[in-house]
Amino acid sequence: MSLRDHAIVISLILIGIIVASIKCVFRNEHASPPGNLFQVPRRYPIKHFAKWKDLYGPFFHFRIFGRRFFMLSDLSVAQDLLEKRTSTYSSRPELPMAKLIGRDKTALFLPAGSRLKETRKLMIAFLNARSEEFYIPVLEGETYRFLHRLLREPEDFFRNINSLPSAIILKLVYGYQIDYEDDYFVQLAEKLGRLTTEATDPGRWLVDSFPRLQLLPSWLPGMGFKNWASEARSKCEAFIRAPHEFVKSSVAKGQYLPSFTSLNLAKLPLKGNDYEDILIHTSASLYSGGTDTVVSTMKLFFLMMAIHPDIQERAQKDLDLLIGDERAPCISDQSSLPFIDCIIKELLRFNPVVPIVIHSPEKDDIYNGYLIPKGSWVMANIWCMSHEASVYPEPHEFKPERFDMNSEGSIQQSDPLEFIFGFGRRNCPGRHFAERSLFMLIASVLWAFKISPEKNCNDQPRVPEVAFSTGHTVHPLPFHCSFQVRSTKSVAVIEELVKSFE
Ligand code: HEM
Repeated sequence: MSLRDHAIVISLILIGIIVASIKCVFRNEHASPPGNLFQVPRRYPIKHFAKWKDLYGPFFHFRIFGRRFFMLSDLSVAQDLLEKRTSTYSSRPELPMAKLIGRDKTALFLPAGSRLKETRKLMIAFLNARSEEFYIPVLEGETYRFLHRLLREPEDFFRNINSLPSAIILKLVYGYQIDYEDDYFVQLAEKLGRLTTEATDPGRWLVDSFPRLQLLPSWLPGMGFKNWASEARSKCEAFIRAPHEFVKSSVAKGQYLPSFTSLNLAKLPLKGNDYEDILIHTSASLYSGGTDTVVSTMKLFFLMMAIHPDIQERAQKDLDLLIGDERAPCISDQSSLPFIDCIIKELLRFNPVVPIVIHSPEKDDIYNGYLIPKGSWVMANIWCMSHEASVYPEPHEFKPERFDMNSEGSIQQSDPLEFIFGFGRRNCPGRHFAERSLFMLIASVLWAFKISPEKNCNDQPRVPEVAFSTGHTVHPLPFHCSFQVRSTKSVAVIEELVKSFE
C-alpha cells in the first residue's frame, strides 16, 4: 500500500470510531437527557445547561463520545459531592491537549496526588491571611500606581486594568516590577493565557475525546493538532521558565526583591529533586489563577458603576465619612466599609468569573442511586447557583444591597462567596487574596473618581451594554466610560503616594 492508501485507511478507521461514539450518545440511558455535543452551543453554553436544569433537574448526566458528564446545578447537590465527599472528588479529568502543551503541571489541571498536595501547600502558605504582611504593601502600592495612571490616561483604562493584577502578581511571585508601557514578561504571560484557553476549549480538540490519537504520526490527515501543540508548548515553556531564571540570576547577583520564588528557592537544599520543578509550575499557576479572574471582576466593577450612579454614591458617602480626601483608602479600612464588601459579593454573584468548575472522582461512586464512574467529568454550574431566583430574587439585577446586614447582624441573602471560589480540596487558594485585592481597587477608585457613561456627540450619556465573552473565565466585552476626579486634594494625595512607592 502507498503512503496515501495508508492515510485513507487510517482516516476511515478514525471516522468509524467517531461514528460509533456518536451512536452511543443517542443510546437511551437512564436519567440522562438526550444531550450531545452538537446540541451544546460553543457560545454561552452555561445558559444552555441552565435550560437543561429546568428540564432534567439539578443533577443530570449526558455522554459525549463515550465520556460521561454529570452536571450539578444546585448548591446542595454540589456540596453533597464536592465537599462532603471531597476525598473522592478532588481530582481533575484528563485533558490530553493541556498535557501536550505542557500545562499538565499547572495547579488547576493537576490530578489528585502528592504533587497537588505539595503545590497547594506552597500556594496556601503564600496567599492566606497570615502572609498579609508580605503582600499588603504591594497590593496598596500597585493600586495607588493604578490610580495615578487612571488620572493621566483615563481613555486607556481597559489596558491599565489588564496590567494591574499582572503587576501585583509578578512583583509578589518573582520580585519583578513591570514596565506598564510594554513588558516582555506580561506579553509572554498573555500568550500563555491565550494558548491555555485555546488548548482547553471544550469540544475543540478531537484528541481530548480520543487520547490515543496522540500516538498516530503527525503527517496523517487530522493530526495538525500535534504541530499546533508543539509550537504552543515552546511558547508556554518560555513564560514558565523565564521569570524563574530571572529570580535565580538576581539572587546570584544579590540584587533582588524578596518574593515567593526567592523565599522558596532558599529552601531548595533541604528539599527533594522535584522541588524546583514544583516551584516553577506553582509560580506559573499563581500567575494564571490570579490575573484573568481579577481582571474580569475589575472590568465588571467599572461597567456596573457606570450604569448605577446610585450604588456609586452610596459607597462614596461611606468613603467620605470614614476617609475624607486627605488620605487614600488602605486595606485596614475594609472592616469599616461593609457596603464595599456587598459590591464585591454582588459582582462575583452577578458574573461568576469561573461559571463552571470541573472535578473528577478518583473511584466509582454512587449518588442518588446513580453510578458516577471514576474519571467522569463532574461539573458544578456555579452560574446556575448564583442565579437561583429562590435564593437571589431578581437574579439578573445588580443589587449589592441584597448583602446588607439585617437587624440580627447577618447578611440578608446567602453569601455567594461560599461557592463562587469552588469546592472542597480544590477550592480557590487565592480567595482571601482576591477579596483583599478587589477591596483595595474598588475603595480606591470610588474614593478618587466618579465613573459615568461616555457622552455621545449630542452630549447624551451612552449607557454601555452588559455583554460577556464566553470560555473557562467570562469577561465583560469592551466598553467605554468616563472618569471625573472627585477632589483636587485627592489628586495631590495620589501624587505623593506614588512618589513614596517609587
Ligand atoms: C475573582 C477572583 C477569583 C475567582 C472568582 C476564582 C475562582 C476560582 C475557582 C472557581 C476555582 C476552581 C475551584 C474548584 O475547582 O472547585 C479556582 C481555582 C484556582 N484559583 Fe482562583 N479565583 C480567583 C482569584 C484567584 C487568585 C487571586 C489566585 C492566585 C493568586 C487564584 C489561584 C487559583 C488556583 C491556583 C486555582 C487552582 C486550584 C486547584 O486546582 O487546586 N485564584 N479559582
